[in-house]
Amino acid sequence: MADYFGETHRAQWKTKAGFILAAMGSAIGLGNIWRFSYLCYENGGGAFLVPYFIAMAVVGIPLMLLEFGLGHREKGSAPLSFRKIAPGWEWLGWWAVIFVMFGIVMYYSVVISWCLNYLFYSFNLSWGSDPNGFFFNKFLAVTSGPGKIGDIRTPIVASLVGIWLINWLIVFFGVEKGIERANKILMPLLFAMTMGLVIWALTLPGAKIGVVKYLKPNFTQLKNPSVWIAAFSQIFFSLSLGFGIMVAYASYLPRRTDITKSAIMTTLGNCVYSLVAGFAVWGTLGYMAYVKNLPIEKVVKQSIGLAFVAYPQAISLIPSFARLFGVLFFSILVFAGISSSISIIEAFTSAMIDKFRFERKTIVSILCLLGFFGGMLFTTGAGIYWLDIVDHFLNSYGLVIVGILECILIGWIFKASKMRRHINEVSAMKLGVWWDFSVKFFTPAVLILILASSLYEEFASPYGGYPVVSLILLGRDWLLATLIGAVIISRYKWQPANNE
Ligand code: ALA
Repeated sequence: MADYFGETHRAQWKTKAGFILAAMGSAIGLGNIWRFSYLCYENGGGAFLVPYFIAMAVVGIPLMLLEFGLGHREKGSAPLSFRKIAPGWEWLGWWAVIFVMFGIVMYYSVVISWCLNYLFYSFNLSWGSDPNGFFFNKFLAVTSGPGKIGDIRTPIVASLVGIWLINWLIVFFGVEKGIERANKILMPLLFAMTMGLVIWALTLPGAKIGVVKYLKPNFTQLKNPSVWIAAFSQIFFSLSLGFGIMVAYASYLPRRTDITKSAIMTTLGNCVYSLVAGFAVWGTLGYMAYVKNLPIEKVVKQSIGLAFVAYPQAISLIPSFARLFGVLFFSILVFAGISSSISIIEAFTSAMIDKFRFERKTIVSILCLLGFFGGMLFTTGAGIYWLDIVDHFLNSYGLVIVGILECILIGWIFKASKMRRHINEVSAMKLGVWWDFSVKFFTPAVLILILASSLYEEFASPYGGYPVVSLILLGRDWLLATLIGAVIISRYKWQPANNE
C-alpha cells in the first residue's frame, strides 16, 4: 500500500516567496478588480469593509489554514489528501477539481479573452462613443436568450487560443519552472501596474467624488443580512477556497514551512489588493461623473458592465495618454486572470498525476486542449448567458458545498485539534482552540446559511430571469454531471508510484 501514495520526487516550490506569490496569484483574479468595488458600493460603501474583513478573519483565514494544513500534511492534491484522511471521501476532492477544470476555468478563460481583446481595442479606442452597443451588439453579438446560440465570435476565439497557449506554456513546465517562475514575473508586475493605475486615477479631477461614493460608510446597511452574505460569498470565491487549488499548492511545500504565516499573508494580500484596486476603479468613475456633470449613480454599471462598458467610456475621456490608461487597465485584468487560471489547471493536473501517474506534459496538453474547446461553448452570441448561469450554480452551490463538507471532514472526522497540532508544529504563531471552533461550527454554519439563502432565492424566482429549462440544463445538470464524473473517477484504481 505504501507504494500507492508514494511521495517520491513530488514537485516542490523553490522558494517560500515563490509559493506565497503563486497562492496570491491564484486568489487575486478578475473578481478582485471590479466585483469587489461594485459589491462595496452596493452594500454600504465603507461600511461593507466591516463584514468583509470580519468574513476574512473568521472564515477566510481559518479555511485557508485548513487547506494549507491539509495539503502540507498529506502531501497530495485534493482527492489524494481527502482519501488519506478518509477513503470514502475521495470523490469530494475530485468533484472540486472537476467542476473548476470543466466549468469555472472554461468560462473564466473566456472572460480573460475579452480582456485581451479589449487590451488591443484600447490602442485605438475601438468602442467609440457607444461602449455599451459596442460590447453587447458588436463584440459579443448577444442573442435574445440562452436558448438562441447565435454565431461563434471569431475575435473572442482568437484571443482564447492565445490565453490557452499561455496557460499551457506555464503549467507544462511544472511547479517550479512554470508556475513559480510565471508568478514571480506576473505578480510584481501586477502590483506595480495596479499602483500606477491607482495613482493615475486618483490624480484625475473629480476622482474624490468616486472615492467618497466607494467608501462613504452607510452603517444602517449592516442590518441587512444580504450585505453579510455578499461579504462571506466574495471572500470564499476570491480566496480560491473550495477549488482544491490551495491544497495542491501547499502539497508542494517543504516540511519546514510556516503554515500560519503563509495563510495570513495570502489572505491579507488578497483582501488588501481588492481594497486598493477599488481606488483605481472608483477614482476613474468619479472623473467620468465630473466630466459628464452627472451624478455618479448614473455612470456606475454592474460587474461585467463596469469593466467593459463604464470603464471604456471613462478611458475615452482621459485627457492625455488615454490609450495607455486602457492598456494598463486591461493588462492588469489579463495578468490577474492568468495567474488564477493556471492554478485551476494545476489543481486538476496534480490530481491526475497523483492518481494515474500521468506524464505532466501529456496531461497538461490534453487538459489545455479540452479547456480551449470547452471554452468555445462560451464564445457564441449566447455565451454571456451561459457563463452567467454556469458561474452562478458552480459558485453558489459547488464551492459552498465543498467548503461545508471540507469542514465536516477535517473538523469532525479527522478532528480539528489534530490538524491544528500539525499546523502549530511547523508554525511560529500558534493557533488556539478558536480555530477548532471556527472549522467545526462557525464556518460551516455560515456556509450553510449562504447555501440556504441561495436555495431560497432560487425557488422564489428563476435566477436572472432566465427560462427555467436553461437553468436546469446549464446550471443544475452541469453540477450533477461533474458530481457523477467525480464518483466514477474515484472508483478507479490508484497507480503505484514509479519513482518518476
Ligand atoms: N480567486 C480568483 C478570483 O478572484 C478565482 O478571480
